[in-house]
Amino acid sequence: MNMKRIAVTGAAGFVGSHIVDELSALGHEVIAIDCLLPAAHTRRPSYLHADVEYYFGDITQPGALNDALAGVDAVCHQASMVGLGVNFDDVEAYVHHNDYGTAALLRALHQQSFGGRVVLASSMVVYGEGRYRCAEHGVVQPGPRLLRDLDSGNFEPPCPHCAVSLVPETVPEDAPLDPRNVYAATKLHQEYLCRAYAREHEGCTLTALRYHNVYGPRMPRDTPYAGVASIFRSLLERGEAPRVFEDGGQRRDFVHVRDVAHANVLALTNPKPFDGVANVASGMPKTVGEMAAALAVAFQKLNDDSRNLTPLVVGGYRLGDVRHVFASHERAIAELGFRAAIDFETGMREFATAELR
Ligand code: UD1
Repeated sequence: MNMKRIAVTGAAGFVGSHIVDELSALGHEVIAIDCLLPAAHTRRPSYLHADVEYYFGDITQPGALNDALAGVDAVCHQASMVGLGVNFDDVEAYVHHNDYGTAALLRALHQQSFGGRVVLASSMVVYGEGRYRCAEHGVVQPGPRLLRDLDSGNFEPPCPHCAVSLVPETVPEDAPLDPRNVYAATKLHQEYLCRAYAREHEGCTLTALRYHNVYGPRMPRDTPYAGVASIFRSLLERGEAPRVFEDGGQRRDFVHVRDVAHANVLALTNPKPFDGVANVASGMPKTVGEMAAALAVAFQKLNDDSRNLTPLVVGGYRLGDVRHVFASHERAIAELGFRAAIDFETGMREFATAELR
């Protein structure tokens, strides 16, 4: 294989660190950049590599990237503030780390006339609700769910034209974009900024990877910014049953972090670059209730724990949550040759005892 010099931002983070693992195992020269954000890292992670060049700096600081980016063939931009946030007070921090951070990275690349591959960590949150079909109106785009429906336990979004029940379908990359929160807005803006860079720089390509619900080792513990898999795992560790909102029938695509890392590695190293957007998912959607059950069973079995940790469907809802969003993975297969290798049961068994951060 043709060895490359590849910069990875967010290299100490959940997805970034697994990308560094795979790239360095393949023999690529990895330039690992991370600011070790205190909210994400209380201490230096144990899984850093002795033979990888780390730059512990904040990409938003002037000049922070000049040395790190010198002579790189490709850039993999994972650094980002993730999750839903606590409340709107987070808006400046999201915009600073995600939008301004991306702008600073792109400007530093511009200053050295970088014309290689940019691979960006984007997210399925740019779609808002998933895709739905009405028997009469075809593919429709439901609006935000109404409080009175949620309060009375009607969790499925109705057809915006005739109010009948809809059938959820996989989300393709050309689905309408509907970023519904600050984090989602910054992810979409990152895509647009990187696209503008790629357009204006000869030879540059952008692969924007829209991750679905990533889980696996090194996932951050249950902070207000954590995803549901981490929240459930942390509850189990404390001897508490997972608490499933709504009726547990909401569907997601849970994709293992090593699969997500592999999709990035393919985008960075395939002989032919893919200039475009692709979902990164397992292709096997599950309900949140199924995920809770699989994780609880695996946790109890592997820890020989006989307490009653059966998930509780507690009802209730989080305003702003979407009902179903799960990916079509055809484009990633066709354009990147990516197919998730870790099936749900195996992944959940590993996650039940994996090291969290
Ligand atoms: C999550 C992330 C989003 C990320 C995306 C893709 C958060 C808050 N959201 O979106 O930023 O881009 O994955 O990786 O990190 N739930 C429960 N019980 C709980 C917590 C959640 O039942 O204790 C339910 C929620 O109501 C929701 C589902 O689980 O229906 C998924 O929640 P979560 O993982 O937080 O958010 P996503 O919308 O999937």
